Amino acid sequence: MLLKSWISANRKTQNSGLVHVPAVAKSVAGEVRAFCFKETLSEKLRVSLVEIDCRVCKVRSWRLEDAESIVRHANNRKIWLGLRDCFPHPYTDSDAQDYLRQALSTQPETNFAIAHGDEAVGSVGFVLGRDVERHSAEVGYWLGESMWGHGIATAALKAATAYALATYGLWRIFAVPFCENAASIRVLEKAGFVREGIMRRSAIKEGRVLDQALYAFVRE
Ligand SMILES: CC(C)(COP(=O)(O)OP(=O)(O)OC[C@H]1O[C@@H](n2cnc3c(N)ncnc32)[C@H](O)[C@@H]1OP(=O)(O)O)[C@@H](O)C(=O)NCCC(=O)NCCS
Repeated sequence: MLLKSWISANRKTQNSGLVHVPAVAKSVAGEVRAFCFKETLSEKLRVSLVEIDCRVCKVRSWRLEDAESIVRHANNRKIWLGLRDCFPHPYTDSDAQDYLRQALSTQPETNFAIAHGDEAVGSVGFVLGRDVERHSAEVGYWLGESMWGHGIATAALKAATAYALATYGLWRIFAVPFCENAASIRVLEKAGFVREGIMRRSAIKEGRVLDQALYAFVRE
């Protein structure tokens, strides 16, 4: 609760001046129209506000008020089936609050909303590697079922990949979809990720042992 008011207070006092617009002339996305994101500075602490226009959607910073739409879209067994078990199911308001608290307090900011209009309808996020893997990160994403099939996840993944490569100093971004997750594999391939191999019997979901595919986007 304290953290919630602290973040709102600081977000309200943000200096709206444009501080930094990185010039990424050629994004990995190719189709990402405007790789424009704004970073604003708070008087008291640095708070970045990311907003990337991907035409069919936006990839933007999370807001505390997104909790309700997270629950509406994330509380879906079909989404949970494609993800690790740490993604809650059923997905409750308290799960959304916990997630937002964590996302908003993590620096650098690595978890973003996929927004349709202004509504958060999904998520794309990174787990940054450490030590000898510090130039590598894993990407994960999900999208509300009502939004599936319109190229939204692909657009968001392309934009987020371009942003992550430029912002975190990465050479490699990888993903590990279940081999049976054809939609996610298609999204990765459309976004320019390349299959590096199959991790046989590397996961267990709902008691079923599954193969996972390793996909990566590598900046040479
Ligand atoms: C995976 C997910 C993000 C895709 O979102 P989306 O916005 O529908 O994706 P897109 O519209 O950009 O692309 C989906 C592609 O998969 C294809 N596809 C969908 N279901 C498919 C299936 N069962 N078999 C083969 N292809 C399929 C679509 O036809 C489309 O390809 P196309 O543009 O060539 O026609 C969404 O289904 C989801 O959130 N799933 C649950 C969570 C998840 O699995 N996350 C990924 C973890 S690795």
